[in-house]
Amino acid sequence: MDRRRFLGTTASLLTAFQANSLAKAQNAIASVNGRPADTVARDEDFWFNIRHAFTVDRNMINLNNGGVSPAPKIVMDTEERYLEMENLSPSYYMWNVLDPGVETVRRRLARMFGVDTEEIAITRNASEANEIIQLGMRLKPGDEVITTNQDYPRMITTWQQRERRDGIKLKQLTFPVPPPSMDYLAKMYEDAIGPKTKVIHICHITNRTGQIFPVKRICQMARARGIETIVDGAHAFAQFPFTHADLDCDYYGTSLHKWVLAPIGTGMLYVRKDKIRTIWPMMAAPDSMQENIRKFEEIGTHPASQRNAITEAINFHESIGGERKAERFRYLRKRWSNQLRELPGVKILNSEDPEQSCAIGFVSVDKIDAPQLAKHLWDKYRIWTVAIVTPGEYQGLRITPNVYTTLEEIDTFTEVMTKIIKNGSIPS
Ligand SMILES: Cc1ncc(COP(=O)(O)O)c(C=O)c1O
Repeated sequence: MDRRRFLGTTASLLTAFQANSLAKAQNAIASVNGRPADTVARDEDFWFNIRHAFTVDRNMINLNNGGVSPAPKIVMDTEERYLEMENLSPSYYMWNVLDPGVETVRRRLARMFGVDTEEIAITRNASEANEIIQLGMRLKPGDEVITTNQDYPRMITTWQQRERRDGIKLKQLTFPVPPPSMDYLAKMYEDAIGPKTKVIHICHITNRTGQIFPVKRICQMARARGIETIVDGAHAFAQFPFTHADLDCDYYGTSLHKWVLAPIGTGMLYVRKDKIRTIWPMMAAPDSMQENIRKFEEIGTHPASQRNAITEAINFHESIGGERKAERFRYLRKRWSNQLRELPGVKILNSEDPEQSCAIGFVSVDKIDAPQLAKHLWDKYRIWTVAIVTPGEYQGLRITPNVYTTLEEIDTFTEVMTKIIKNGSIPS
């Protein structure tokens, strides 16, 4: 076959594959309408068709989707189309044709989060969203911020830099995993409040053991005392369903390249409307924009292709359905963790309460070093996980599958772990 014919055939095969895979996902979604989410969670025919929407490497088992997720093919294609378009003549196509489309993205994100369009800024990731607030708040020397030692390291580093730069005081709480209850977590924050406390910074769900916090109780308790609340939702948005009314926080930062399955390099910031004027943007904006949420997007030239493709990711997420996704995640987590927990020396450190846990699972094995275990799983079996060590407290593997994960992949992980745990050490 000459090169042109070969390329032509490959291109038409690819087009057929894509059209077919999307149709499969659409048919699957239509076929489960009206059925309870926990039943759909176990319906392999449904998830088989969803898998076709992804082009992931099936010669590795990716159980670190919590770090960052692959986008479905339809989202990548959309991003690529926008990329080509903006490069036709960027100063025209990017600024005049594509940038106005970001207003649709803002509207869709606002609807998904249940807030006003004028309260949503689009950022490059959760770090940027959180840091805009952390660095932009007006705090005086001696003002206190309360968070935990299990919050995201970069967010803790940000507060520590403000300690050095502005003389604020950071108080980091510790808590056992899993904690005794949601009440325990709420009381922990309440008891820590002092006369100088100005801010409470909470993870909606931690990136370590996947602990979900009683955000609304903490935020309302804080507001009654004149304390502002920042919620780091990097892992929460689209992992399980909720809206702002379920949280009632002042500020919310999240990644979109984790559970929304949007292009890599996208995030979202929510700011309560009456707070917008009080926060300095990270990069300067004119005084006329003081009350405009878009002042947080004044970052200079940046690609429109990633941001504009967020809408397609929201469509994909909403087509599967937030409740179905969450139930599937809980089902996958229980599938491996219920087997491993019976083995000697194993501790499952995520909570089993569905209010306190979803996709993220955490397994710790006595006398087995977690970083070495993660390395062995990768080197010998191409199972990709992440080792997490909280010095002096606990260590283990964080396991995060995704909507495209197969039962065979989960069961392979379970079998391999069972063998190692029964052996009592990592084979050399
Ligand atoms: C709790 C938490 N906050 C913030 C971040 C930072 O997210 P991003 O990489 O999108 O900036 C992460 C990333 O894993 C996270 O888990």
